[in-house]
Amino acid sequence: MPKDAVAVVGLGYVGLPLACLLAESGSHTTGVDIDPAKIRTIMSGRSPIVGEEPGLPELIEKVVKDGLLVATDNIKEISKVAAIFICVDTPVRDRMPDLTILKDVLRNVGKNIKKGQLVSVESTLPAGTCASTVIPLLEGNSGLKAGRDFSLVHCPERVMPGKLLGNMWGVERVLGGVDSQSIKKGAYFYSKFVKAELHPTDLLSAEISKTAENAYRDVQIAFANEVALLCEALGGDAFEVRRLVNTSPYRDMHIPGSGVGGHCLPKDSWLLLSSAPEFKAKVMPAARDINEMMPHHLAEMAWTSVKKTISSGSRPKIAVMGLAFLKNSDDTRNSPSIVVIDDLKDRADLVVHDPFVKEPYIVPLLRGVYDALRGADCAIFVTDHSAYQSLDLDEMKKVMRTPLIVDGRNIFNASDVRKKGFKYAGIGKGRSG
Ligand SMILES: NC(=O)c1ccc[n+]([C@@H]2O[C@H](COP(=O)([O-])OP(=O)(O)OC[C@H]3O[C@@H](n4cnc5c(N)ncnc54)[C@H](O)[C@@H]3O)[C@@H](O)[C@H]2O)c1
Repeated sequence: MPKDAVAVVGLGYVGLPLACLLAESGSHTTGVDIDPAKIRTIMSGRSPIVGEEPGLPELIEKVVKDGLLVATDNIKEISKVAAIFICVDTPVRDRMPDLTILKDVLRNVGKNIKKGQLVSVESTLPAGTCASTVIPLLEGNSGLKAGRDFSLVHCPERVMPGKLLGNMWGVERVLGGVDSQSIKKGAYFYSKFVKAELHPTDLLSAEISKTAENAYRDVQIAFANEVALLCEALGGDAFEVRRLVNTSPYRDMHIPGSGVGGHCLPKDSWLLLSSAPEFKAKVMPAARDINEMMPHHLAEMAWTSVKKTISSGSRPKIAVMGLAFLKNSDDTRNSPSIVVIDDLKDRADLVVHDPFVKEPYIVPLLRGVYDALRGADCAIFVTDHSAYQSLDLDEMKKVMRTPLIVDGRNIFNASDVRKKGFKYAGIGKGRSG
C-alpha cells in the first residue's frame, strides 16, 4: 500500500463523503462496510445516497474510476493503511446510547491495527466514551497502547445531509487527541482535505463539544417552536414575529416547523445527558419534549381541519407531502412524517409523496406530486422539498377532492392560497398568518 493509504469504516452519510475526499486528496482509500448492496453501488461508481448532494455523485464516479477508492466488506484490509477513520452509527434507544455497532467495529479494528497507525473516531460519542470504551477495546484487542504504539483522535463530524461535501471540507473541525503526537498526525491527514481551521483539544472536550453543539441547536429550534405554538394561541404569525425579533442585534430566532428529524439532533442531547445520569438537566429534556411533540401537533392540526371541512361520516383521504426529514434529502431517519403518518393512519386513507425517498413505505409512496394529491381531502406539508415551493395551485385545486392545505414548513403564503379557494392552517400561523 502507498505511504498515506487510509481506510474508512462505515460508508454512510459521513463515511462515504469522507472516503471520497480522502481519495481525491491522493490517499489510496479503502472503504469498509457490511452492506453488500452499498459496496456494489459504490464500486459501480454510483452514489447510494439519493437526495441532492452537490458534487458527490461525480466525485464517487471519479475516485472509483481512478482506483483511488475501493469499497469492501473485509475489515482486515485496515491493517495495510496508515490511518483508519471510524464512521459508524451511534444511535439511541429509549433515550440511552446503543454502542453495539461501534463496539463491534472497535474490537475488529483492535484485532487488525498495527504499530504506528492513526485511529480517528468520527462517530458522535457520549462524553467519556473514548476513555471508557474506545481505548480499552482498541488496546485490549491489539495488545498495543494508545499514544505509545498507535495514535488516537476523536474528530466529530459536523456535516448536514444536502451539504455533505461542502461541510466536510469547509467547516472548522474539533480535533481531540489522546496525546500531542496523535493530534499532530490527525492534523496531517485532515489538512489534506479540510480547508478550515482545526481546533486541537483533549478527547473529552471533543466529545462534549459535539453533542453540546447539537443539543444547543435543538434547544434553539424548540424555542422557535414554542413561540410558534404561542402565536397560534394568540392569533399571530410566528414567521413575521421571527423576522421582527431578528432585526434586533445578536438575536437568531430559529425557524419553527413540524419537528426535528435526522440522525443527529433527536439523539445527541440524550447521548450527552446519558454520560452523567446523576445530573438533573432541565433545558435539554424540555427542548426534546417540545420538538418531539411538534409532528403530533401537526397531525392534530390536520385532523381538526379535516373534520371541520368534510362531511361527517366519510373517511378522508390525506396526502402526506414529504417523507424525508430534510429538504431535498432522501434521509428518513427520525422524520416527523413518520409520526404524522402513525398518528393518522387509523383515521384516514393516507398516501405519502416524496421526490427522493426510494424504499417503499407502510403507506403508498407516490412519485408524482399531483398523483399523490389526486382525490385528497387534505395535503399536509411536512418537508419543504423544493418541488413543493413551485406547485401550481390551480392544478392542485383541480386534482384535490377538498382544497385544504396544512403547512408544517411555512411553504405557502396563507392569504395567497386562501384567495385561490383553499382552506389553510399552518404551524405558527394564527388567524392572521
Ligand atoms: N448523518 C449526519 O448528518 C451526521 C452528522 C454528524 C455526525 N454524524 C455521526 O456520524 C456517525 C455516522 O452517521 P451516519 O449518518 O454516517 O450513519 P449511517 O447509518 O448513514 O452510516 C453508517 C454506515 O456504517 C455501516 N456499518 C454498520 N455496521 C458496520 C460494521 N460493523 N462494519 C462496517 N460498517 C458498518 C452501515 O452499513 C452504514 O453504511 C454517527 O455517530 C452520527 O451520529 C452523522
